Amino acid sequence: MVGYAYAVLFRKRPAYRYTAKHSIYVHHAHLGRGVGRLLLQELVDVCAAAGFRQMIGYIDADNAPSLALHEKFGFARAGLLCGVAYRHGRWSDTVMVQRSLGAGATAPPPATAPGR
Ligand SMILES: CC(C)(COP(=O)(O)OP(=O)(O)OC[C@H]1O[C@@H](n2cnc3c(N)ncnc32)[C@H](O)[C@@H]1OP(=O)(O)O)[C@@H](O)C(=O)NCCC(=O)NCCS
Repeated sequence: MVGYAYAVLFRKRPAYRYTAKHSIYVHHAHLGRGVGRLLLQELVDVCAAAGFRQMIGYIDADNAPSLALHEKFGFARAGLLCGVAYRHGRWSDTVMVQRSLGAGATAPPPATAPGR
């Protein structure tokens, strides 16, 4: 396996059923070869086709590769969560990124929610 990506419901409460939260990981031996770009494009396409209207990602503020990748795919920085992670002996901030899919919030959702 060279990498994987997945999306889950952003929150379990029904009102959030059109918003997905995603993660993407590429094996360290395969970084910088376009795998992340392929995975994220596929994930965006699959989430849009499933009827999701928003995608949310949480990225460590020091993770320049992931921030750059998401920026290329149209994700905007939607918020900064300060000191929410503790690793390698220090606190880290997390950037919340977001992009819309399809009509986003400009039109009502379809009658059937994603995954139903
Ligand atoms: C973020 C990650 C998925 C990128 O995967 P990748 O296969 O190395 O990325 P790609 O080769 O497809 O590069 C796509 C874009 O990402 C950005 N990018 C990738 N590596 C980068 C680096 N070292 N520095 C800056 N930008 C980088 C660039 O914008 C790049 O576009 P370009 O090639 O046109 O310059 C990968 O670094 C990773 O898995 N990191 C560890 C896990 C992680 O942080 N996941 C994200 C949690 S939200």
